[in-house]
Amino acid sequence: MWLYVLLVSCLWAAVWYLRDRQMLSSFKDKYVFITGCDTGFGNMLAKRLDKKGFHVLAGCLTLKGADSLQRATSPNLRTTLIDVTNSESIRKAVEWVRTEVGEKGLFGLVNNAGVANPIGPTEWMRIDDYRKVMAVNTFGVIEVSLAFLPLLKQARGRVVNISSVLGRLSGNGGGYCVSKYTIEAFSDSLRRDMYHFGVKVSIVEPGFFKTAVTNLESIEASLRQLWDHMTPETRRSYGEDFFPNYVKVQNFIMNIICDPDLSKVTNCMEHALQAKHPRTRYSAGWDAKFLWLPASYLPAFIVDIALATILPKPAHRVR
Ligand SMILES: NC(=O)c1ccc[n+]([C@@H]2O[C@H](COP(=O)([O-])OP(=O)(O)OC[C@H]3O[C@@H](n4cnc5c(N)ncnc54)[C@H](OP(=O)(O)O)[C@@H]3O)[C@@H](O)[C@H]2O)c1
Repeated sequence: MWLYVLLVSCLWAAVWYLRDRQMLSSFKDKYVFITGCDTGFGNMLAKRLDKKGFHVLAGCLTLKGADSLQRATSPNLRTTLIDVTNSESIRKAVEWVRTEVGEKGLFGLVNNAGVANPIGPTEWMRIDDYRKVMAVNTFGVIEVSLAFLPLLKQARGRVVNISSVLGRLSGNGGGYCVSKYTIEAFSDSLRRDMYHFGVKVSIVEPGFFKTAVTNLESIEASLRQLWDHMTPETRRSYGEDFFPNYVKVQNFIMNIICDPDLSKVTNCMEHALQAKHPRTRYSAGWDAKFLWLPASYLPAFIVDIALATILPKPAHRVR
């Protein structure tokens, strides 16, 4: 009996592996639109797809980002400005892409643009802190996806949504985890609904990587703003040592786990665009595979205890 189980498992793994390695033969007629190409993963992905022969349509937030990407790539790569929180800006980008792709339609949409700050204890947040992050990471992704669906259906294309391990395990307060959980849900429903039209949807869940999103100075600066604007009563309940201790622990952890090798993430994005059978989910980075993802399957109380042990404790705690 166990021998049969082992044999079936090995056969399943071999079939999965061979299927996963099958790639599309040519990218020359394939158009891919990427948001957030100024820096980080989006910037690297745009350059790499350009080298591979894709028609890259790179969405940048700033003119400076667009200019420097254009200078570093072939004339085949084209840039446009897009702010994913602005409906008019999205509409203009869709019209521009429609003209660029012509009859071919859009083969790939990579929803990469994202922001993180402020991240910190939930009680320190104001509602606008959630709205600001979700405007980009949640409603930006949803509005951009909906707007591009006709062009994606035309090409039987793919959507690649950049979530995070923090879309599986809520490790801190603020809009970031909430926004990434919503992307997981949106992507799952989009994948099921678009199945009938041949549009595939993949989710990339990176661990922690060294980019502007994980920049310690900006994380600390936005956290300090929250701390400085807190009511004296709330501040007293945490105690004056809490803020420096929190920053110290956060910096210590981030310095250990942030991986400088961004290609671990762009490799997943590329696979989702090049493979004959893109995966539903990609875990990018060792911390994602061996720490965050397994932890997300543990009973919640174990993760609660681990985080409560690692993070500093408020001065006026009751336990
Ligand atoms: N780094 C990590 O550890 C990590 C882990 C998991 C998931 N992620 C996700 O990966 C994605 C890329 O982030 P990254 O790490 O590469 O950081 P990044 O370098 O800051 O990239 C984010 C990009 O989004 C752009 N952007 C910000 N607001 C925008 C808006 N309203 N409209 C259009 N573009 C906007 C930024 O433009 P500017 O540079 O001009 O501001 C930047 O180019 C994000 O979705 C992030 O949540 C990152």
